[in-house]
Amino acid sequence: MSAALEEDKRKVTTHRLKEMKSRGEKISMLTAYDYSMATIIDQAGMDVILVGDSASNVMAGNITTLPMTLDQIIYHGTSVMKAVKRALVVVDMPFGSCSGNPYKSLDAAIRIMKETGADTLKIEGGEEIIEDIKIIIKAGIPVMGHLGLMPQSINKYGTYNVRAKEKAEADKLISDALLLESVGCYAITLEKIPAELAGEVTSKLSIPTIGIGAGPKVDGQVLVMHDMLGINKDFSPKFLRRYEDLHTVITKAVQNYIKDVKKQDFPNEHESY
Ligand code: KIV
Repeated sequence: MSAALEEDKRKVTTHRLKEMKSRGEKISMLTAYDYSMATIIDQAGMDVILVGDSASNVMAGNITTLPMTLDQIIYHGTSVMKAVKRALVVVDMPFGSCSGNPYKSLDAAIRIMKETGADTLKIEGGEEIIEDIKIIIKAGIPVMGHLGLMPQSINKYGTYNVRAKEKAEADKLISDALLLESVGCYAITLEKIPAELAGEVTSKLSIPTIGIGAGPKVDGQVLVMHDMLGINKDFSPKFLRRYEDLHTVITKAVQNYIKDVKKQDFPNEHESY
C-alpha cells in the first residue's frame, strides 16, 4: 500500500471527493458485486466502489444491463456493504427505476439506501430525468450523475460506439452536466466520449468527473472489475487496460484441481482427518 493510503484510512465521503478534485488528486473507482471481491478491493485502497448494473452482464450473463431488477441490485449492494470499511459505495439505480416519475423514483432510491446501507446512488441521464434527481437529492440521498454512453439506453442508440462526437450531442452533454451540478449531484461519470470533450466538461465543473473511455483529462477513472482483471476474454474496447489475465490463471488452477482429483493425488494424508 502506498504511503498516501497508509496515512489516510478515513472513510471516503462525497465531500472528500470534491477535496481531491480541488487538490488535483485523481479518484480511483472500480466495480464490485459481492462480499469477497469487495473486501479485497476496499483493503487495496480503492476510493470508490461501484455496485454497477454491469452486474447484469458480468454476473448474470445478460447481453445488456436492462434486465437488472431493484431486488437484484439490492442483493449485490447488501453483499458489498458488508465488506467495505473505507471506500465510498455507490449503487446504480437500475433501468426503469428512475425514468420520469419522481415519486416512484424516490421510492426506489429510498429502498436501495435503506436495504443496502449504501452511501450514494448513480443515475443515468440528464435533463429528461432532472425532476427525479432533484427529489432524490432533496430527500438527503447523494447522487452521482452518468452521461455520455448510457448503457440503459442501448436500445435507443443501437450501438455501444463513442457518444457526443457531433456538436449537437456534445452541447447537450455539457448543458446536462451543468444542470446535474446545479441540482446538487456530487460527481458525474462520463462514459465513452471524446477525451477533449471530457476535459472541457471537467474544467467547467466544480464537482469531480469520473471517466470510463473518456481519456485522461477527468478527475478520476472507473473500470468494470471483470474487465480490468482479465476475467472476460471477449470484451476488448480501446479504453480498457487489463491488469491481469485471471481467465488464464483461474483456468490453470481449475485444470490442476481436476487433474489432481482424477489421479487421486488430492486429498493427500495432510489434507485428510
Ligand atoms: O454499471 C457499471 O459498471 C457502470 C460503469 C460502466 C461506470 O456504470
